[in-house]
Amino acid sequence: MGAHPMRGVLLEGPPGTGKTLLAKAMAGEAGIPFYSANGAEFVEMFQGVAAARIRSLFRAARKNSPSIIFIDEIDAIGKARSNGPTDSGTQEREQGLLQLLTEMDGFFQNDRVLVVGATNRVDALDDALLRPGRFDRTIYMGRPSPTNRLRILQVHTKNKPIDRSNEDALLRQIADLAIGFSGAELANLLNEGAILAVS
Ligand SMILES: Nc1ncnc2c1ncn2[C@@H]1O[C@H](COP(=O)(O)OP(=O)(O)O)[C@@H](O)[C@H]1O
Ligand SMILES: [Mg+2]
Repeated sequence: MGAHPMRGVLLEGPPGTGKTLLAKAMAGEAGIPFYSANGAEFVEMFQGVAAARIRSLFRAARKNSPSIIFIDEIDAIGKARSNGPTDSGTQEREQGLLQLLTEMDGFFQNDRVLVVGATNRVDALDDALLRPGRFDRTIYMGRPSPTNRLRILQVHTKNKPIDRSNEDALLRQIADLAIGFSGAELANLLNEGAILAVS
């Protein structure tokens, strides 16, 4: 149909909703080279390091394309540029951002590198990152529904000695009570329970 593939997908949502977890699962399932980085890794006190790291990450991914680059906590590098006077740390980050914008810019139309980013803070990202041709898609990962809370509780009780004869009713009750809990909070709830049980 003349469509071109997506270049970037952004996972957005509150902390603990499983963005990093999903990316890890993707690495296992993708069957193609998977490069993982954290936005904070790029930001150093030395000038030029951020841009150089981004360049080498994309170079490696292109060489081995088709491939996926995952940048967790992408807001650390992708924060909106400021207008006022900037300190050297900010300048360094902004150079990194510029490099990221360049790498994602579609100059290499056929390189087949998918960039996946994750962040709690899409509002803080530079507009240029979100324009079509860079992060084309945003996937919102919200807090789980009651049914999904039940499923998450099921996952995290697999290794815990709970009353299996009454498991469904018990977990359903917890899922109904835990309104607004994220996946991480549900996992933590069960862990606290396990700690309490032995103390
Ligand atoms: N949807 C989910 N299903 C099962 N466990 C989850 C889910 N979301 C979060 N968790 C639990 O919370 C932990 C932290 O989640 P993480 O992926 O790091 O959240 P995020 O990156 O969105 O802040 C996971 O390692 C897992 O134990
Ligand atoms: Mg995360």
